[in-house]
Amino acid sequence: MGDEQAPDLDITRAHGARIYDYILGGKDNYEPDRTAGEESLRVWPGLRIHMQANRAFMHRVGRFLAAERGISQFLDIGTGIPTPPNLHEVVQAVTPEARIVYVDNDPIVLAHARALMTSDRKGRTAYIDADMRAPEAILAAPQLRDTLDLSQPIGLLLIAMLHFIEDDDEALRVARHVIDVLPSGSYFAATIATDDFAPEPLARVRDLYHSHGETLRWRTRAQAQQFFEGLELEEPGLVQMHKWRPDPIHIGTIDDADIAMYGAVGRKP
Ligand SMILES: C[S@@+](CC[C@H](N)C(=O)[O-])C[C@H]1O[C@@H](n2cnc3c(N)ncnc32)[C@H](O)[C@@H]1O
Repeated sequence: MGDEQAPDLDITRAHGARIYDYILGGKDNYEPDRTAGEESLRVWPGLRIHMQANRAFMHRVGRFLAAERGISQFLDIGTGIPTPPNLHEVVQAVTPEARIVYVDNDPIVLAHARALMTSDRKGRTAYIDADMRAPEAILAAPQLRDTLDLSQPIGLLLIAMLHFIEDDDEALRVARHVIDVLPSGSYFAATIATDDFAPEPLARVRDLYHSHGETLRWRTRAQAQQFFEGLELEEPGLVQMHKWRPDPIHIGTIDDADIAMYGAVGRKP
C-alpha cells in the first residue's frame, strides 16, 4: 500500500496505534510493533482481553446511542487505525443517515483514513487530523462544521484516550471544552484507564509505556467520575467497561482483573 510508505511513517520503531492494531488481530503492523505487543502481553496477559473489551464497549455504545437514544451525529476523538466494524459501520447499520466525524493526530491513522470514508450514501463521514489537546481547533474545523449540525444532539466519544493526558486538570479541560459546546440532549461516552483491579501488573505496564516514551495515566474511580460531572449517567453508571450493558452472551465470561478501564455514558441535561 503506497500510503504506508509515506516518509513520515517510521516502520522501524514500535508505534502505539500499530501495537494496538496487532493486539486486536489487525494487519497494519510491523515486526517492531509485534515485538512490543508481545512484550506488553508478557507483562500483562490480560491486555488482549482488555483491548477487545474496549472495542466492544465502543460498539455497544454506538448501537445504544443510535438505536435507543436516536443519536445520528457522532464525534469520535482518537479513532485509531480503522478496525471493522468502525463507529460509522455500527451506527449506520441502525441509522444509514448518521454522520460521523473522526479525529486522530497520528499520521498512520491518517494514512488509513480512507477506510473511514466508506459512509452509507445516505449519511456522511469526515476525518480531521488534529490533536485532542486543541479542542478549539477540532470544533472549528471545516470538516466538522460541514458534517455535524452543532445545534442538534451529538454523541461524543473519547474511548481509550484520556490516559494519554497525564495531567488531570488538562484531561478534564479537554473533555469539558467539547462537552460544553454541545447542545442539551448530547451524550458523552468514555473509557478511562484504571489500575484499581490489578495494581501490580499494571504498574509494570505503565513502566513499559514510559520506557517507550508513551504516556499512561491510571485513574481511580473517583477521578474517572469527574469527567461525567453535571451529566446524567445512563444505567448502569460508571462501571468497569465490560459491565456496561454487556451482551448477554458475554456476561460472566471476563475476569475483572483483565479489565483496566471504567466506562460510562452521560447525557447532557
Ligand atoms: C488506544 S487507541 C484508541 C482507538 C479507539 N478510540 C478505540 O477505542 O478503539 C488511541 C488512539 O488515539 C490517538 N491519539 C493519541 N493521542 C492523541 C492526541 N493527543 N490527539 C488525537 N489523537 C490521539 C492515537 O493515535 C490512537 O490512534
